[in-house]
Amino acid sequence: MPTYATALQHPIFNTLSQAAANLGLESYVIGGFVRDYILKRGEAKDIDIVAVGSGIALAKEVSRLLPGNPKVSVFKNYGTAMLRAAGMELEFVGARKESYQQDSRNPAVEDGSLEDDQNRRDFTINALALSLNKDDFGKLLDPFNGITDLEQRVIRTPLDPSITFSDDPLRMLRAIRFATQLNFNIAPEALQAITNKANRIEIISEERIVDEIHKILMAPTPSKGFALLHKTGLLPYIFPELVALQGIDEKEGQRHKDNFWHTLEVVDNIAKTTDNLWLRWAALLHDIGKAPTKKFDKKVGWTFHGHEFVGSKMVYKLFKRLKMPLNDKMKFVQKMVLMSSRPIVLASDVTDSAVRRLIFDAGDHVEDLMTLCEADITTKNPKKFKKYHNNFQRVREKIVEVEERDHVRNFQPPVSGEEIMQTFNLKPSKEIGMIKDAIKEAILEGEIPNEYQAAKEYMLKKGAELNLTPVD
Ligand code: CTP
Repeated sequence: MPTYATALQHPIFNTLSQAAANLGLESYVIGGFVRDYILKRGEAKDIDIVAVGSGIALAKEVSRLLPGNPKVSVFKNYGTAMLRAAGMELEFVGARKESYQQDSRNPAVEDGSLEDDQNRRDFTINALALSLNKDDFGKLLDPFNGITDLEQRVIRTPLDPSITFSDDPLRMLRAIRFATQLNFNIAPEALQAITNKANRIEIISEERIVDEIHKILMAPTPSKGFALLHKTGLLPYIFPELVALQGIDEKEGQRHKDNFWHTLEVVDNIAKTTDNLWLRWAALLHDIGKAPTKKFDKKVGWTFHGHEFVGSKMVYKLFKRLKMPLNDKMKFVQKMVLMSSRPIVLASDVTDSAVRRLIFDAGDHVEDLMTLCEADITTKNPKKFKKYHNNFQRVREKIVEVEERDHVRNFQPPVSGEEIMQTFNLKPSKEIGMIKDAIKEAILEGEIPNEYQAAKEYMLKKGAELNLTPVD
């Protein structure tokens, strides 16, 4: 077996080695750190250490040897411990033999050897271990040919995949997530096992599922993951709304596009232009309102009227179902879905007033909205592709121009309600709202500039129309 002592140059590994020697334990670095080192994925900040013996005792000994004795967090139920040192998070676990009970996440755990522990890990590429023992420091222990799988870019389970996935059904999603992040293939027998066991994902908490979906969305080509979720039959358990978008209907010779595969193209497009997770979510969900709004109209063909509004309502339900926080991020996704067709309508006729309204409604998210709309261009006709992009480029330029001149982003009324009340000696009443709205409309329509003096004159004019007289 080759040695990878170069992976363990950081002084923390000497401390780990010394601590294990003090306790007379064998210990190993295992999992993601080793995998990512060999793949040259950059310095990992999470290090998993397995001790043949007590992981908790090892963590405490490591802390004792480190300057400042960092706090050890102990998770007794799991027999694990964690401490932070040198900007890294060290996770300690005792080597285990374990098998999970059906319908439960609680494993029956027994102490085991390193090989037992490697056996119960999810994938061969995550079961690679490097020795921290003094006599063979840096030696690679790879009983399942994880190195070959790394070279051949394969996700394979150490045991029969049906056992590995039954032990923890989240691993089905992890397989797809790693395949997407690393651009690997899933071994055929593992893919088959996922397909057979897809329904087992139901025992997994929404939070763990969403963590994996975030990682798939943040991968360079997220469609790979969603296509695998679709192929294995996991998708209906997580995103029935996306499944409903799949398929092409034909009536009277008219067909609409397959909105599922279109959506995946949009997600891949946006992944090239933004690392904003929530904008990527918006791309994933931008068309979900199309399934419930789909209609066939004899005159115009297939329509999806109001799908943006319906879709934005569905975003809320979807976030709630997946136990995602119903916070500003969700509101942002809703807003993107709601507004997702606005720039398209505008592109053919870029008037100042339409652009002002777009900026007014989208606020600080107007650039994100443009990014989403550009990603939405999936036509395979090169002429149309160029034309649509040029149109959006014009909209972007117009946004900058209108912004510089009119400052309607985060619009603040130039004349306050207070001033309207004082001018006409009014008590709080609907007239104040009417005048304020009229001023806002006049600014957005370009009838008056977004300035105090012009707005004040307009207020007096509107007041007169409502038979209000200014007091001196
Ligand atoms: N592991 C496992 N089954 C799981 C989760 C984790 O067998 N359901 C094992 C794997 O050996 C994995 C290690 O625990 O390498 C650490 O898990 P985690 O930190 O979740 O993953 P990493 O492999 O470190 O990768 P990433 O940081 O990208 O999640």
